[in-house]
Amino acid sequence: MCGIVGCILKDNEKAAPVLLECISKLEYRGYDSVGIATISDELNIKKGKGAIKEVNNELDLSDMPGNYGIAHTRWATHGKPSKENAHPQIDCSGKIAVVHNGIIRNYVTIRNELEKEGHVFKSQTDTEVIPHLIEKFMDKGLDLEKALRETIAILDGTYAIAAISVDEPNKIIATRKDSPLIVGVGDEQYFIASDAPAILDYTRTIFRPDEGDIVVLEPSGVTVKNKDDEIIEKEIFTIDWTPDMAEKGGYEYFMLKEINEQAEYIQNTLTQKENIEKIIEELEDINRICFVACGTSYHASLTGKYLIESLVGIPVDVILASEFKYSLNALNDKTLCIYISQSGETADTLDALKMAKPKSKTLGIVNVVGSAIATEADYVIYTHAGPEIGVAATKTYLCQLTAIYLFAALLSLKLAENNDDIDLTKTTDLLRQLDRVPEFIEEVLGQSDSIMKMAEKYKDKSDFFFIGRGYAYPIALEGALKLKEITYIHGEGYAAGELKHGPLALMDEGVPVVVVMPPGEDYDHTMSNLEEVKARNAEVIAVTTDDAEIKEDKADDIIGINPDVSEIIAPLVYIVPLQMFAYYVAIDKGCDPDKPRNLAKSVTVN
Ligand code: AGP
Repeated sequence: MCGIVGCILKDNEKAAPVLLECISKLEYRGYDSVGIATISDELNIKKGKGAIKEVNNELDLSDMPGNYGIAHTRWATHGKPSKENAHPQIDCSGKIAVVHNGIIRNYVTIRNELEKEGHVFKSQTDTEVIPHLIEKFMDKGLDLEKALRETIAILDGTYAIAAISVDEPNKIIATRKDSPLIVGVGDEQYFIASDAPAILDYTRTIFRPDEGDIVVLEPSGVTVKNKDDEIIEKEIFTIDWTPDMAEKGGYEYFMLKEINEQAEYIQNTLTQKENIEKIIEELEDINRICFVACGTSYHASLTGKYLIESLVGIPVDVILASEFKYSLNALNDKTLCIYISQSGETADTLDALKMAKPKSKTLGIVNVVGSAIATEADYVIYTHAGPEIGVAATKTYLCQLTAIYLFAALLSLKLAENNDDIDLTKTTDLLRQLDRVPEFIEEVLGQSDSIMKMAEKYKDKSDFFFIGRGYAYPIALEGALKLKEITYIHGEGYAAGELKHGPLALMDEGVPVVVVMPPGEDYDHTMSNLEEVKARNAEVIAVTTDDAEIKEDKADDIIGINPDVSEIIAPLVYIVPLQMFAYYVAIDKGCDPDKPRNLAKSVTVN
C-alpha cells in the first residue's frame, strides 16, 4: 500500500510545495520512495528512492512549476524500491502521469499486449500499465476521462488512481476500487488523498467516491460521475480531526504521542453510548456473534469474546479476516458479524464483510469516518481515537476495546430485560470500573522511567514469551505483536495454560517471559505458570498488581498496576506498559517505531 495525493489550486499558486506537505503526512502508508508530478506547459516530474526527507534534500521537490499535480509515497509490492519504480509512472509520450495505490493483478498480460503494440516500459511496477493504457485510448481520440474509464474496465485488482495529462490542462482525474480515496473540497482548491491527515491543513470537508466513480478536479470545482457515466452528488462529511491531531506535538515519535493520548481518547469512545444503545435496539433476535479482524484488531476481538460470553452468554467466535471465507456456510440472519478495523480499509476485513453481508447482520467498529468498512456495514460504531499515524496500533486499540466493552455491557442490560438468567452484577461492576480507566492509564504512563530502564536491560534478547490466562491472554498476544513489529525481536504470545503443551521446552536460562497476571480468578493459576518458567531459569517480567506478593526469587522485574484494576478491565490498562516497553526497546535498538520495516498503516492488499 502507498499514499497518493493530488491538488488543483488557483492559477497563481504553486502546487508542488502543497503536494510535498500533503504527501509527507501520508508517509506512514509507505516510505521507500516518493515522487511528484505537476503540469505547467509541460509535465514536470521529480522522484527518487528513500524517505521523503532524503529525496527532498536531494531534489528540492517543492521547486516545480504549475498550479496542479499529483504525488505518491511508495510501499513496494511490484519492483524493488528505485527511482524507476517510484511513482508517478508515465506513458511513452511523457505527457501522462499516474499515481496508484493498490495492486493490478493482470498487469503482466496487459504489459505483454502493450509491448507488442509498441509501448516501451521503464519500470518493473504493475502501475506502469495504467499510463500506457490511458495513452492508448487517448491516441484513439478519447478524452482523459473516457480513457481512464476504458482503462479501469481492463484492470483486475485494487486501485486508487490519479492521473494528469499535458493534453488536458487544469484537470486531475481519479478513481478507486477497493483502495481508499477521499476528495477534499476547499476554498477554490480541491484535493484527492488516500487518507484525511494529508489534507487537514487545507480542508476538512470531504467525500468518498464509490467504486468505479470517476472524479474530475478542475479549478472551477469537482465533478463525480458514476459507473453509468451520470453526474452524481456525493454525501459530504466534515472531519472532526484538527490538523494538530496529526502532528507530533513535541513528542519524538507519533507512537509515543499516541500511547500518551490513550486516556483522553477513551473518553471520546465512551460518548458512543447512545449510538450503541440505538444499534442494540435494532438488533433483534441474534443468537451468535462473530468478530472478524486482523492483527491488533483481532486481539481486541478476542477480548470481546471473553466479555460477551461472560456477560451475555451468547456464543462468540473470533475469526481472522483472511480465513473468514471458510466460515461462510455457518452464517445466518441470526448471526451478527462485527468487523473491527482502525483504518476501515483493511482489504481482508472488507472482503470478509462483503462476503457475509447477504447472509448476516453486520456491524463495523471503525476509527476512520466514512471509510469503506464503515460505509459497507449495516451499522457502525466510530471509536473517535483521532488520527493514528504510528504504524503500530495503540490508541485505536484501546478505543476499539472501549467500544467493545460498552457494546457488551449495553447488550447485557438490554437482553436482561427479558431474560432473568442474565446476571447483571458483572455488568454493573464493569461500567463502574470503565469510568476509572483513564485514571489507571495515567498512573501507568507515570512509570515511563522504570519501563525505560527495563527496556535497556532486555533490548539485546532475541526471543520473548508473553503469557496470560483469560482476559490476560489477548493482552499477552498484543504485547508480543507490539514488540515484534517495532523492534524486530521475536515475541510469542501464549495462553499460559498452553505452556505445558509445547513451549515449556523452550524455557531456558535467561529467556525473557512476560507474565500478565491481573488480580482475579486466574491469578493463582498464572502464578503457578510463573513458577514453572522460573524453575527453568527463565527471566520473568511480571505485570501485576503493585501490591502483589511476588518476591525477587520469582520475578526478575515487576511492572505494578493499581490493584483496583480487576481482570475484567485489565485489557484496557495492562497493555499500556507493554506498548511502552516495546517503544523503548525500539528506541534503544535505533529502530523507527513509527515506520517499522515492511509494514504499513493500512493494508489494502490481500
Ligand atoms: C497493528 O499494530 C498492526 N500494524 C496491524 O496488525 C493492524 O492491526 C492490522 O493490519 C489491522 O488493521 P486495521 O485495524 O486497520 O484493520
